[in-house]
Amino acid sequence: MTTRKIIMDCDPGHDDAIAIILAAVQPKLEILGITTVSGNAEIEKTTDNALKICDLVSLHDVIVSKGASEPIVRLRETAPGIHGDSGLDGPELPTPSRSWSDEHGVDTIIRLVKESKEPVTILPTGPLTNIGLALTKAPDIKDNIEEIVLMGGGTFGNWTPTAEFNIWADPEAARKVFESGIPTVVMGLDITHQALATTEVIDQVNQIDNRVSNIVGELLVFFASTYKEMFDFDGAPVHDVLTVAYLVAPELFKMKDVNIVVETKGEFTAGTTSVDLHGVTGREVNAKFGVGLDVEGFWKLMIDALKKY
Ligand code: RIB
Ligand code: CA
Repeated sequence: MTTRKIIMDCDPGHDDAIAIILAAVQPKLEILGITTVSGNAEIEKTTDNALKICDLVSLHDVIVSKGASEPIVRLRETAPGIHGDSGLDGPELPTPSRSWSDEHGVDTIIRLVKESKEPVTILPTGPLTNIGLALTKAPDIKDNIEEIVLMGGGTFGNWTPTAEFNIWADPEAARKVFESGIPTVVMGLDITHQALATTEVIDQVNQIDNRVSNIVGELLVFFASTYKEMFDFDGAPVHDVLTVAYLVAPELFKMKDVNIVVETKGEFTAGTTSVDLHGVTGREVNAKFGVGLDVEGFWKLMIDALKKY
């Protein structure tokens, strides 16, 4: 079986962490590297969290490189109200067994893509700063990127009424990605809000009762509590996990070919993704946009993966 080479660029973050946990146990996927970005928390915290999750799932040989500590243009803002001060509040995780690489995350992305004998798929699940910088520093890496499968955007927002956090945090970087011409798959809020970790789901996770599933259960309990408090949701949307699930089981997804542009100038609308669902603009298709999820199939995939630990 040919494995798909992936780089995970993330800001753990509860759902980023669960995305790594799902990916780490997929024979179809080979994680070439994990790069981190400031987003849910400051860069040192998101990187520390990535290392803690790598220890949890025994990803001891996968490079973890610290990336951009702030957006390309805008001032950094984090999301402690959703993910806690540590960026991964809830479970107690041991201090990481190793430190992050000396190589900057952007350079790791460039190096791994250039070195790979097969095209690489990049899974950004935080602000797109590292990807935007990598494309600026080494435009030729486009030739060896198979696809970008990102979590971000949507036809509505969660950080402003119209902008989703990952895109809002660095719209200039996001614009570079959407204008890059690289085949791009977008898991926006329209589909990620269908993947809710309800109490029933959390109960199923806790019934597995192994070391990893118990941590995932604690992550989901915390994440669901902040989504209840902030948005009155009956469960936490595990946004980022859909990027991995898409690679492993694309049959669970209903996608639509669309044009997406990123607003970078609006006083009230910066970070908004204008998703042309019905082709009214006549602009060229530049993304596959997630619109429907086989929710039962998705959670079965997640539960089955956790049982493998
Ligand atoms: O808006 C949801 C996104 O913002 C997810 O990637 C979550 O981890 C946060 O980064
Ligand atoms: Ca994230």
